[in-house]
Amino acid sequence: MSVWRRKPIESFHSDAKKSELNRVLTKWGLTSLGIGAIIGGGIFTLTGIAAHEYAGPALAISFMLAGIACTFAALCYAEFSSILPVEGSAYAYSYGTVGELFAWFIGWNLILEYMMGATTVAVSWSGYFDKLLHLFGINLPLWLVNDPTTAIEKAHELGIDPPAFAFNLPAFVITWLVTAILVRGIKEAAKTNNLIVILKVSVVIFVIVMGAFYINVDNWSPFIPEQFIDAKGVGHFGWSGIGTAASIVFFAYIGFDAVSTQAGEAINPKKDVPFAIIMSLLICTVLYILVSLVLTGMVKYDTLDIKAPVASAFSSIGQPWAVYIITIAAVAGLTSVMMVMMLGQTRIFLGMAKDGLLPRNLFGSVHPKFKTPFKSTILVGAIVSVIAAFTPIDKVSEMCSMGTLLAFSMVCLAVWILRVREPNLERPYRTPYLPVIATLGIAANILLMLQVRVGTWYTFIAWGILGILVYFLYSRKKSNLHPGNEHQLDK
Ligand code: ALA
Repeated sequence: MSVWRRKPIESFHSDAKKSELNRVLTKWGLTSLGIGAIIGGGIFTLTGIAAHEYAGPALAISFMLAGIACTFAALCYAEFSSILPVEGSAYAYSYGTVGELFAWFIGWNLILEYMMGATTVAVSWSGYFDKLLHLFGINLPLWLVNDPTTAIEKAHELGIDPPAFAFNLPAFVITWLVTAILVRGIKEAAKTNNLIVILKVSVVIFVIVMGAFYINVDNWSPFIPEQFIDAKGVGHFGWSGIGTAASIVFFAYIGFDAVSTQAGEAINPKKDVPFAIIMSLLICTVLYILVSLVLTGMVKYDTLDIKAPVASAFSSIGQPWAVYIITIAAVAGLTSVMMVMMLGQTRIFLGMAKDGLLPRNLFGSVHPKFKTPFKSTILVGAIVSVIAAFTPIDKVSEMCSMGTLLAFSMVCLAVWILRVREPNLERPYRTPYLPVIATLGIAANILLMLQVRVGTWYTFIAWGILGILVYFLYSRKKSNLHPGNEHQLDK
C-alpha cells in the first residue's frame, strides 16, 4: 500500500548534500539552541500553578517524572538523528523507517508542538512584558494585553465593564520581531540566541544559589501534602497530584528535540545532534529540579504566586531588586524559545516540501541572499501572531503538549522498528536497551496524555482527522514517491 512507502535512506544523504542551508552550528551551539528552546514559560510560569494546586513541595518529583519521560524520548531521538542527519526532525526519521502516512502524521503533530509552542510562549512573553512595564510605571489597558476571553475574565475579576474588543498586542508584535530575525538568517539568529541563553541560564543559576540562602526547611513539610478531591472531582496533591503536575510541567521540557530540526545547519550533525539533544535535556532537568526545591523551600507552596512564581518568591523574601533581574531575563529568555520553535517549524515544513508532501513554492523556497525559507517563516509568523493575539494560553499550551507527547511516542516506536528492520545500518549513536527504553517512553508519554483535559482531546482528535484528510486529498498524490512524480526528485 502506498501509505507505507518509505523514503530510501540514501536519498536523505543526497538531500543533505544538496542542502542550501549554511552549516554553521557547532556541538555547543546546538546545545545552546536546545537550552534556548527548553527554558521558558514552563519554569518561569507553570511551576506556580503546578506547586500551588497539585504537587506542593513534591513539585521536584513531578519535574523528575516528566524529565524521565522526556529522557526516554530523547535517547530515541538521539539514535535517529545520528542515522539521518537532516532537517525535518522526527518527521524525516519516520519517513525513512516506518512509512509515509506515519511520517506525515508525526509532521502534523509537530505543527502542534512547534507552532502552538511558539504561540504559548508569545502569550507568556506578553504577560512578562506587561509585568516589566508595570515595574517601570507604565500600564497598558486590559484590552491591549489580553485575548478577548482572558480580557473579559479579568474585567469580571476586577469588577469593571468587560471591553468590547481585546487584542494581545505585545504577543502579536514579538512574533513579528522574531519572524524578522529569522528571515534575516540563522547565523544572526544563532548569535542572538547564544547571548540570550547565557543570560537565561545565569538567572536560573542565580535563582538557585541566591534562593538557597532563604530556604526554610519547614516549608518542605509535608513534602507530599495529603490528597483531596475538589468539587469538580479533580484530585489535588498526593501521588495523583504529583502526576497531574508532571503533565503540566512537561511543557517546560519541550524543545530539546528542536535540536534535531537544525541538523541541516550543523557542521557535524551525526555526532553533535545526539550530543546536544541529551546534553540540553540533562542540564535543564538538573536546573529545574533545583529551582523547584528552592522555590518551595523559600515560600510555602500554598502562598506561591501563580502568575510569576519565580519573580514573586524573591519579592516575598524582601529582595524586590531581584524581581527586575528575573523579569528582564524572562522577557529575553522567552524570546529565544519562540525563536527556536518558529525556526524548527519552518525546517520541518522545508523537509516536508522537499518530499513533495507540502507545496514546494511556499514551504520549500529558500531566499537567494539570506538562505532562509523566508516564505514559510512569514506564514508561520502570521499564523502564530494571530492565534497568540486572540487565544487564551491554556488552550494553546495543552494542544502543544498533546501533539508533542504523541510525536514522542511515535518516535520511540519508529526507532525500534528501524532497529528490527535494518539492524546493520550505521548508527553513530545507539540507544542503550532500546526495547526497554522505547516501551517505557511510549508508556510514559501516553500516561501523560491521559492527564490532559477531555475538551482538549476533542480538539486534538479533530486536528488528527484534518491531517489525514489533507494527506489523502493532497500529499499522497504529490509525494515524490508517488508513481509518475519521479521528476520532482531532481529539483
Ligand atoms: N519548554 C518551553 C517552555 O518552557 C516550551 O517555554
